[in-house]
Amino acid sequence: KPMIYYPLCVLMLAGIKASLIISTPQDLSRFEDLLGDGSQWGMAFSYIEQPSPDGLAQAFILGEDFLDGAPEALVLGDNIFFGESFGHKLSSAINELNGATIFTQQVNNPQRFGVACFDEHDNITSLHEKPKEFISNHAITGLYLFDNQVAKFAANTRPSGRGELEIMDVLEQYRQQQRLSHTTLGRGFAWLDAGTAESLLEAGSCIHTIEKMQGLKIACLEELAVRQGWCDKATILQHQANQSQSAYDLYVQKILEQM
Ligand code: G1P
Repeated sequence: KPMIYYPLCVLMLAGIKASLIISTPQDLSRFEDLLGDGSQWGMAFSYIEQPSPDGLAQAFILGEDFLDGAPEALVLGDNIFFGESFGHKLSSAINELNGATIFTQQVNNPQRFGVACFDEHDNITSLHEKPKEFISNHAITGLYLFDNQVAKFAANTRPSGRGELEIMDVLEQYRQQQRLSHTTLGRGFAWLDAGTAESLLEAGSCIHTIEKMQGLKIACLEELAVRQGWCDKATILQHQANQSQSAYDLYVQKILEQM
């Protein structure tokens, strides 16, 4: 299945129906061809180009009109989250949101990620983007919740040494106001960043193993949309009848017929 299904399912689990998809001028129309306006799954998708790779924090500036002062979730297109009760974790983080929330997980290779340090009371004491020297092994995953201040904080950021508007600089402003919280995903949870060739291969093999063992697909948009009560099973089955008979399509038909 297309990789974007994984982060979209995270938003769906969080109960979010309206999403803004931000991508490069070259790729955006491909996402639009694939996903359309989202109404087939009871969702609403809008699209906006990021003309050049100027950093994650630019998403809030590009998306300011879309957000229109509402709180929001940002999820990166190459992040995969899989674990029991994730929907509940997300709902409680959203209900308790006061400022911004990050989701952290212990990793073996913290130099590849943004990391957070904590004091003995579990408060975040500092944030670092891809530290060369070891500081912490608590990676900041590519899923963030923000209140309606985020566009203002993003507008305060300036390009970093690598020429990007850094998400860390947005998070740091929340931290300084003591309004940055974190949810630990824990060791029973799988978080995979599939943003390099090697990690994509590893993620593919991990998902393949779990799906094969369980006979259930991870991040099946159609299944989740019906479970959420956002769209009608019969409409999806009707649409599926005209689809190719890929393993994914066959799964959608099978799982919906069982529901
Ligand atoms: C981005 C963020 C980093 C975060 C990571 C999660 O890095 O800058 O802080 O830990 O996503 O996937 P990227 O992978 O885009 O280089």
